[in-house]
Amino acid sequence: MEYTLRFFVFISLVAVCFSQVISFTGKCPKVYVQKDFSIEKYIGKWYEMERFFASFEAFHDCVTANYTLQPGGVVKVNNTGYSHKFWDKGYTTAIGDAVAEDPNNPAKLGVRFSPRQPRGDYWVLSTDYNTYTVIWSCTDLPIPFLKANLQFAWILTRRPGGISTQKKERLYRLMEGYGINTSKFSATNQENCPGR
Ligand SMILES: *[C@@H]1O[C@H](CO)[C@@H](O)[C@H](O)[C@H]1NC(C)=O
Ligand SMILES: *[C@@H]1O[C@H](CO)[C@@H](O)[C@H](O)[C@H]1NC(C)=O
Ligand SMILES: *[C@@H]1O[C@H](CO)[C@@H](O)[C@H](O)[C@H]1NC(C)=O
Repeated sequence: MEYTLRFFVFISLVAVCFSQVISFTGKCPKVYVQKDFSIEKYIGKWYEMERFFASFEAFHDCVTANYTLQPGGVVKVNNTGYSHKFWDKGYTTAIGDAVAEDPNNPAKLGVRFSPRQPRGDYWVLSTDYNTYTVIWSCTDLPIPFLKANLQFAWILTRRPGGISTQKKERLYRLMEGYGINTSKFSATNQENCPGR
């Protein structure tokens, strides 16, 4: 039951132009998150620079996330992306909220886009707050006799132009050190965004 619910979280995340990679290489890798994470410094607007590839969302460009702090420490999430599909042109928005369920682990947030859903993991692996953040989410899949997991990853940046290649390579090396396959990343187009 728990797994079914969690699975629905991910399906709905995918539906709002998030991305996902299914890996059959075992259980979720062990990762470390940003030390001394401060949500106050983290909030504000971010631009999606890269995300794990998923073919069905290849049409989504100009993806941004705006996080605002609400009373009680809940973060309002506004994800917006532009669809170039000719039958569905325009911006779509998903509104959700995120919280750190364990106050001792402030970088391990849980996010949801409907109050009826359980939260999906949103772990901040690394951020300097004013140029980049690396977000990771992984769920072991309940497939019998197979060790599989569902992975999501994003690099968001404060500027639509992203970060330097050197800085990105450093983030890649951090992730590769955890066993994350950075070849799954693909760049998000942030150019020629209508209305920006
Ligand atoms: C982010 O959202 C907040 C609250 O909805 C809004 O006041 C703010 O202007 C937004 N920031 C940007 C950069 O869009
Ligand atoms: C979400 O952000 C988009 C783009 O900045 C904005 O147009 C929209 O009004 C926001 N929605 C809410 C509910 O804050
Ligand atoms: C990493 O992902 C790429 C692209 O999907 C794949 O070709 C490669 O085999 C993967 N590497 C490992 C170590 O799983």
